Amino acid sequence: MNNNDNHIYVIFGASGDLTKRKLVPAIYSLFVQNMLPNKFIMLGVSRTKFSDEEFRNKMKSAINEFKEIDNDSKIDEFIKKIFYTTLDYNDKESYKKLEGKITELRTSNSISGNSVFYLSTPPSLYGIIPQNLAAVGLNKQDDGWKRLIIEKPFGYDLQSALKLKDELLKDWEEEQLFRIDHYLGKETVQNLLVTRFSNGIFEPLWNRNYINHVEITSAESIGVEKRGGYYESSGALRDMVQNHLLQVVGLTAMESPSSLEPSAIRNEILKVFQSLRPIKKEDVKKIAIRGQYISSKIRGEVVKGYREEEGVNPESVTETYAALKFYVDNWRWGGVPFYIRTGKRLPTRVTEVVIHFKPTPHFLFAQNDVCRSCNQLIIRIQPDEGILIKFGMKTPGEGFEVQTVNMDFHYSDLSNQRIPPAYERLIHDTMKGDATLFARTEEVLEAWKFLTPVMECWKDDKNVSLFGYPAGTWGPENADVLIEEADMTWRYPCKNLADDGIYCEL
Ligand code: BG6
Repeated sequence: MNNNDNHIYVIFGASGDLTKRKLVPAIYSLFVQNMLPNKFIMLGVSRTKFSDEEFRNKMKSAINEFKEIDNDSKIDEFIKKIFYTTLDYNDKESYKKLEGKITELRTSNSISGNSVFYLSTPPSLYGIIPQNLAAVGLNKQDDGWKRLIIEKPFGYDLQSALKLKDELLKDWEEEQLFRIDHYLGKETVQNLLVTRFSNGIFEPLWNRNYINHVEITSAESIGVEKRGGYYESSGALRDMVQNHLLQVVGLTAMESPSSLEPSAIRNEILKVFQSLRPIKKEDVKKIAIRGQYISSKIRGEVVKGYREEEGVNPESVTETYAALKFYVDNWRWGGVPFYIRTGKRLPTRVTEVVIHFKPTPHFLFAQNDVCRSCNQLIIRIQPDEGILIKFGMKTPGEGFEVQTVNMDFHYSDLSNQRIPPAYERLIHDTMKGDATLFARTEEVLEAWKFLTPVMECWKDDKNVSLFGYPAGTWGPENADVLIEEADMTWRYPCKNLADDGIYCEL
């Protein structure tokens, strides 16, 4: 990094889980790889009282526990760059003290006015902190750049997202805002762009003429763990679909950008969102399925149902599974259905994009029905990151029987290539001011607008079923019906890219 980019990295919510698990270990990884400017300090801010020393010790243990790069020799040098101060988020006076502390640290460490403010706080503070920072001039860029980083959720629905937009844009420029969607920080999500636009072989086929349907899955084997309180007000649609999954849809469906400029890429993603066919409220039952995991035995162990989880209402109707069918109404995708699904407590953790190509116009060989979808391109986001092509091949022997075989590439085959974790990449981008992998206001609003009919219907219409599914299974059976209409089935991916099937290696 250019040393002119010396800066102070201020993290609000510094006593929280994200700081400990992701942010500080990621900044440490950057330090170990010499990717921080020489003049760099981090200031942790939260309500809890700690001395610098106490906070440094906490961060030292966090790095030891969650570090992504094994290099203990530099931890002591790194934590000297960390400072701490308390703040009462709602008290304007408290921000004057914060401004004083920042000025003092900058002066003693010869750092210019460049500052990143990272909000790793409850979303209810996303309006007030930026406003109070601006009230003490910490948004002004005359003595160096100022950037504001916000974690999702960006609002709870379209209305609250619009309100948040107005609150933020009152004092801050859009260019100063970086909305983190950690899926965009994943190497394999970025590789969607490269696979599509650096190869001549895929792009000519990437349209309605050759693609039957697109399937995107993001499955998790864990439940809501200790986040029941948050999840109750979120659910799978807000937690995963509105942001992560729609961004993956954006990268899968977008046109080639004119350059790698952030605005060029983000404009193309926005156009996809603007082309999503609006969902009619009366159609929600047909195109959206919701489910909630119920208690079950997984590998001999009893697993709690969602309603028994800590912080969850025993009569909760929050969905832990969501599947959706929709269309992107433009020339490239006209008539091609997109099926997306996400859920907690599914059999395995896997995220992937499956491009199902159209079958041949005439079945010359003894292909069975399975081969209706025999050509698939699978882009595996995680785990066993890679790309798999499925195609038909002659079964050796007499006659012309066809069987489906695999051609696969695994990132793990690239020796000595480290895949940087999403937060490491995104934090580094916030330091460089590269906004390519961050969600822009319009994208966020379009995503909320698209999902509003589903959210409203699920909230208000008591006739829309919430299906139970036993923890450890692939979600409600009704989600199968959704895709069966197209005479297809979901792919049931396994941990290993090349395997699939409802029953997989554990
Ligand atoms: C977060 C959601 O944004 O993404 C979590 O809030 C979810 O509920 C997580 O578990 C999934 O991220 P990943 O990187 O593990 O797929």
